[in-house]
Amino acid sequence: MSQQVRGVVAPGKNEAVRVETIVIPDPGAGEAVVKIQACGVCHTDLHYKQGGISDDYPFLLGHEASGVVESVGAGVTDVAPGDFVILNWRAVCGNCRACLRGRPWYCFNTHNATQKMTLTDGTELSPALGIGAFAEKTLVAAGQCTKVDPSVAPAVAGLLGCGVMAGIGAAINTGNVGRGDTVAVIGCGGVGDAAIVGSRLAGAAKIIAVDIDDRKLTTAKTMGATHTVNSRTTDVIEAVRELTGGFGADVVIEAVGRPETYNQAFYARDLAGTVVLVGVPTPEMKIELPLLDVFGRGGSLKSSWYGDCLPSRDFPMLIDLHQQGRIDLAAFVTETIGLGDVEQAFARMHEGDVLRSVVML
Ligand code: APR
Ligand code: ZN
Ligand code: ZN
Repeated sequence: MSQQVRGVVAPGKNEAVRVETIVIPDPGAGEAVVKIQACGVCHTDLHYKQGGISDDYPFLLGHEASGVVESVGAGVTDVAPGDFVILNWRAVCGNCRACLRGRPWYCFNTHNATQKMTLTDGTELSPALGIGAFAEKTLVAAGQCTKVDPSVAPAVAGLLGCGVMAGIGAAINTGNVGRGDTVAVIGCGGVGDAAIVGSRLAGAAKIIAVDIDDRKLTTAKTMGATHTVNSRTTDVIEAVRELTGGFGADVVIEAVGRPETYNQAFYARDLAGTVVLVGVPTPEMKIELPLLDVFGRGGSLKSSWYGDCLPSRDFPMLIDLHQQGRIDLAAFVTETIGLGDVEQAFARMHEGDVLRSVVML
């Protein structure tokens, strides 16, 4: 028996989002219906609305979510009704070359629920990142659900489903930041701030926050940055070198996704240092680097895909650290809002006023 709930739908390119009644089928084999408790508003939701990702309208937005499993379909053994879970973008297969080599974030056979959620007139919805969680309930593949400690605040848990995991993972998984390292983070929005939290957790000795907005640098300090550089007024490469004894940082994390900031990252790192690109560029962006500098500077140039995370390993671990007070994920929640407030939250995000607005259900 299908059921009807409220959800936030992007009807067409650049059209305002609206709350609609959506129809959710019973979970099929390998699927789960999750009662959503919280879902953060992420840039990617705005990109879906603006047509930057796909033209497969209408979209059911929202993908940074936590909730309680309501029902599961045939063959589901990893989660059961009543489990508190964080949703991830794609269930991995466990059998492909990437999975077998321990890099499931590059799985070739990821999947979402195969049944479709619809509007009441039968129009099929495309769930954002295969989730669609600005809704009272949603349908996902059971492998998209990761069980975590239910005593954590849902708004905090949901954040690990996307931006905060991407940032922390960029530092601890991709960048392998270690005790005593110097780190520079370029771009201190939600992702960059999470990279700062991850670097601090990993024991970095210096964490240099770089942004063009002083408000962001102030917040970055509260997240654990030891030094700040405003790159509108200061030469980033020189400033980072000066703060690191003339060398450059061991790890530089680029959390903007632009050629000029990537260039800064490349030269702000120490010889044999690591650059991690976690900011997402657009298709037309290109970088030009002297090949001799790539050769002569050594080290590694990496990108971080979803924080190179293993949800089953990383989500519960980060929740534990938060519950113990060793990281403060609540600091990322600027405001909590209702389903009807997503359009305004997009505007505030665009102005740079919030780290995260979180829809509570
Ligand atoms: N130099 C330094 N900082 C910059 C620059 C620049 N040239 N341009 C923008 N910034 C800063 C902004 O001031 C802001 O603080 O980068 C930050 C970007 O933060 P958000 O817009 O909040 O984005 P966020 O959610 O953190 O995501 C950052 O990672 O996941 C990707 O798609 C996402 O590419 C985006 C990036
Ligand atoms: Zn996201
Ligand atoms: Zn796989």
